[in-house]
Amino acid sequence: MDRELNGAMRSVSINSAQLNGHNNGGGIDETDRVGVARGGGAVLSATTATTATKTTNAATTNVAAATNSTTHSPQQIALLSAAEKKKMVHELCQQLLLTDEQVQELCYRILHELRRGLAKDTHPKANVKCFVTYVQDLPNGNERGKFLALDLGGTNFRVLLIHLQENNDFQMESRIYAIPQHIMIGSGTQLFDHIAECLSNFMSEHNVYKERLPLGFTFSFPLRQLGLTKGLLETWTKGFNCAGVVNEDVVQLLKDAIARRGDVQIDVCAILNDTTGTLMSCAWKNHNCKIGLIVGTGANACYMERVEEAELFAAEDPRKKHVLINTEWGAFGDNGALDFVRTEFDRDIDVHSINPGKQTFEKMISGMYMGELVRLVLVKMTHAGILFNGQDSEVLNTRGLFFTKYVSEIEADEPGNFTNCRLVLEELGLTNATDGDCANVRYICECVSKRAAHLVSAGIATLINKMDEPTVTVGVDGSVYRFHPKFHNLMVEKISQLIKPGITFDLMLSEDGSGRGAALVAAVACREDILNSK
Ligand code: BGC
Repeated sequence: MDRELNGAMRSVSINSAQLNGHNNGGGIDETDRVGVARGGGAVLSATTATTATKTTNAATTNVAAATNSTTHSPQQIALLSAAEKKKMVHELCQQLLLTDEQVQELCYRILHELRRGLAKDTHPKANVKCFVTYVQDLPNGNERGKFLALDLGGTNFRVLLIHLQENNDFQMESRIYAIPQHIMIGSGTQLFDHIAECLSNFMSEHNVYKERLPLGFTFSFPLRQLGLTKGLLETWTKGFNCAGVVNEDVVQLLKDAIARRGDVQIDVCAILNDTTGTLMSCAWKNHNCKIGLIVGTGANACYMERVEEAELFAAEDPRKKHVLINTEWGAFGDNGALDFVRTEFDRDIDVHSINPGKQTFEKMISGMYMGELVRLVLVKMTHAGILFNGQDSEVLNTRGLFFTKYVSEIEADEPGNFTNCRLVLEELGLTNATDGDCANVRYICECVSKRAAHLVSAGIATLINKMDEPTVTVGVDGSVYRFHPKFHNLMVEKISQLIKPGITFDLMLSEDGSGRGAALVAAVACREDILNSK
């Protein structure tokens, strides 16, 4: 899972406040309102669709007005009062704010796409694939033993040794290994050889070189699973693009790389997504945990679905009523379903990404893109003369150099205090910012992060409403959720508004989701009661 991306983790010491309270807002039953036709495109209520379009158009008009160089040159704008500049910033940012109607519309569309992913006939063309994970049993606290885990999915790769003990106690040793950029976009063989080498080094350092231990492999990319230990990579995301891996069984590629070395022996017991790891890790302590969410380098969620809904799952044990589904909702919108809320900045991010046209939802939310989104807005306003007296800097103009961690830092300042904001601006080479500039920069960050939180909330509320259980805990991990000072509260507030009356939920920060979760999936797979029931 992601441990460091876009500077998101560098020396950030801000923690999201934990909120336990939540209420049930006046939710709307999605089944009453969504006109979803199996196999067809999104069927939207005409009124909502029109409202959404109108809002977007209005925002676009304001942008034009705010930065219209035919009425005001950047030099003229630079001379305007602080109040006038603030107004322009707010007008331009209007397009980043989601109205309640737009969020509601998103819930309908997400539900529609989830259903398309789950159903056999629509799955092949669905964007939100809803992959079956083959995980049906949640931990019951009786899992014991020593496990290895591999965690690949962010900028770093981790190897872990986990000892699950009695009373929900566990010991864990881990080591982070960097994945150099040339390996992220090199050949698959190189990538898996690197993983096998790190594993072998780790095993020798931790005195388990000669043991044959069960291993859980957290592989946080869209995987078409064919079983608990078999999965074909659908596509790379998050800056990875290793040749020769798409459509291949990644467990086999790992085994082959280990065999090429011939020095260590392992038993791959499970391959899983980081969302699954997070859910399992939280479920170990909280049996209500039925959704796993990551808002980090990437964005994704998994949830417990009824077996009869998961049409692609050939259930073997009729006693088991549920199966975990990895939604891979990062790809929501790849068919245009998000166009009604996308902005010029989102399109810019996409065009310059390694995977244009893909992971549209993820690109509006996750840590890999959030800082860059803010940077694009800042650049536009600076060049229009609204910010920093029109004076830019080389760093500001360089892609990828406004780190996502800056957004958290800037928003962690007390209102009216710009200490962190000024430090960030200095790092960007912008030393002449006025208090007005700082307030505007903060506002831009707030708009981008709030939109991300609201998009995630629309997804989570849709899953909660679909599951229709009285109480749901959502296990959450990822650098954006963990370090952004307001993300948690923004989510609690928005989800409360969107879920059906009578349902309660809470968001639980996972303790090392992908590491311990991998061990737990492996442990559950070889738990005695489960082996005996086969
Ligand atoms: C991947 C998911 C993963 C998420 C969070 C996305 O890019 O496709 O599999 O769960 O990132 O790491």
